[in-house]
Amino acid sequence: MIYNKVQLKNNYVCDRLKTIEDNVLNLVDKINYKTKLEATDFISEKYCKDIIDRHVGHEGIPEKEEMLDILNSKQFRELEEYKEIYPIIFSESIKLQEFLSSTNQALFAYYPPKGFISWHNNANAPGYNVLFTWSETGDGWFAYKDDDGKTIKVQDERGWSCKMMHFASYYDKENRNPMYHAAYTKCKRITMAFRFEESQNIWNDLMEDLQSEQ
Ligand SMILES: [Fe+2]
Repeated sequence: MIYNKVQLKNNYVCDRLKTIEDNVLNLVDKINYKTKLEATDFISEKYCKDIIDRHVGHEGIPEKEEMLDILNSKQFRELEEYKEIYPIIFSESIKLQEFLSSTNQALFAYYPPKGFISWHNNANAPGYNVLFTWSETGDGWFAYKDDDGKTIKVQDERGWSCKMMHFASYYDKENRNPMYHAAYTKCKRITMAFRFEESQNIWNDLMEDLQSEQ
């Protein structure tokens, strides 16, 4: 299990993220998304144990969530403003992906207040990931299980923050454990995840790039 907190300083990346934030929030203000599911049952230790006990019976994808895929969800796509804003958001996220040399964007989601993603492990999409999170007030968290089975809760920060981690499959060549994780927020939250294939060493140099101003 690999988890790193990154001190995000890179000006190019911060500029792209700021444009994404402004445009996504512009769309968010125009939709009326209220959560229906109660997060408690799906972010609990009991639920996590149940998912871990299922082992390969848990495919890797979250079973329950309250969030919207920013590029694909109907609620955003139906907005009149979407046509104008979509190309901006899309091109900025492509610029980020290119800067990172990531193979694909694994997640680009908006969580409303009380939004969440249930415990899961991404075992279906193994690889290294860079995660950018924006939080309105910092009142939210990302949690993961460390190799001792202990839950580590990482408090969100107001504005953008960055994490780098590795998600293992059930058949990891280096015997790394699948990394179980979940998230919850009481305020507006945006998450972007960029993925790197197992063989890519590039991920190792990235932290340095992200932590320097240029
Ligand atoms: Fe995940």
